[in-house]
Amino acid sequence: MAAESGKQRLMTVTAQTPTNIAVIKYWGKRDEDLILPINDSISVTLDPDHLCTTTSVAVSPAFTHDRMWLNGKEVSLSGGRFQNCLRELRSRANDVEDEEKGVKIAKEDWEKLHVHIVSYNNFPTAAGLASSAAGLACLVFSLAKLMNVKEDHSKLSAIARQGSGSACRSLYGGFVKWIMGKEENGNDSIAVQLADEKHWDDLVIIIAVVSSRQKETSSTSGMRDTVETSELIKHRAKEVVPKRIIQMEEAIANRDFSAFAHLACADSNQFHAVCLDTLPPIFYMNDTSHRIISSVERWNRHEGTPQVAYTFDAGPNAVLISRNRNAAVLMLQRLLFYFPPQPDTDLNSYVIGDKTIMKDAGIHEMKDVEALAPPPEISDNNSVQRNRGDVSYFICTRPGRGPVVLTDESRSLINPETGLPK
Ligand code: DP6
Repeated sequence: MAAESGKQRLMTVTAQTPTNIAVIKYWGKRDEDLILPINDSISVTLDPDHLCTTTSVAVSPAFTHDRMWLNGKEVSLSGGRFQNCLRELRSRANDVEDEEKGVKIAKEDWEKLHVHIVSYNNFPTAAGLASSAAGLACLVFSLAKLMNVKEDHSKLSAIARQGSGSACRSLYGGFVKWIMGKEENGNDSIAVQLADEKHWDDLVIIIAVVSSRQKETSSTSGMRDTVETSELIKHRAKEVVPKRIIQMEEAIANRDFSAFAHLACADSNQFHAVCLDTLPPIFYMNDTSHRIISSVERWNRHEGTPQVAYTFDAGPNAVLISRNRNAAVLMLQRLLFYFPPQPDTDLNSYVIGDKTIMKDAGIHEMKDVEALAPPPEISDNNSVQRNRGDVSYFICTRPGRGPVVLTDESRSLINPETGLPK
């Protein structure tokens, strides 16, 4: 790495990458190292304004080894998954020249140069939301930009996949399919965009972050146990998912919410059924998750056509996809009726993200929550239960865009003088 001025021998890139929620789930690998799945999956990318990872990466001849900081804490990069991603990226790196900074890096230098990676999630990691998907996708995307990797997003998705399977779907906005692929080397196991975020912009998403005391089984070990012990997963991967993938692609192409909701709910339920069919059984959902499902099912049935679809990943949090804004407003009223906050909670921190939905729901202060009437689909008002405190908070969001580079240097998380987190 050559530099004309001794001072700025540091090059950085900052990028922002969204998280995603699967509506046809990935669960089970056929190759653990390369992270190759046993079925295709489809996801919706969530708006990075509300849920995303921002990552700054830097290179300098002064760096002695690769280092990474996540949410302010240094984390180890020694794991096989990180190493696989770094190796894949370095092998595809190209010459880089930044005339303004007087920096020049030759293709072959990348093997010897070290990088610093500083990553930050704009949502609480402890919430159990898919932070690894956004994190790994952002690491790969930002390093690819820094190293002038010329591959398109699909090729980059195959690299991100080796960091965490679901990360490959975060390389695109809108609606994304991860094609399982057939090749042994995994080169054809890539993500493709089915439609961008503008294609179906009626959809509104509410996430219920459910309080949980239970230590959850990681996706990685959970799906390994499922593949080893469940009979049901074979039927799912071979017979059920291939048909659902075709139907889901059609539902998305036609913006057919009824079909979309039926498929998403059925697939979430089947994923949790194969978890139950695992030895020892895995329980990701809890009583609150089940209550949310029942309330959505009851309302959808009452309306005659689905208003909201639910889906749950490897944890108790509900992701509720509403057919339009009006349905989201009515959903939020129901959620706040069933799951009011503790009396000392600040409403402003109980419903976060796009707060205009709360305003449209007529909820401005705590007394509005207390005054909510039971939804009309409840026939016996005496049996109504309000489960105060069972939800930590709600996030209102929508389908969103894919990764972007942030050119504004003030957004960088790396101190340009020291190469360390700001
Ligand atoms: C339930 O991508 O976290 O969220 O590939 O082992 O890193 P690894 O697992 P991960 O699994 C995600 C599983 C899921 C469903 C999905 O996102 O499709």
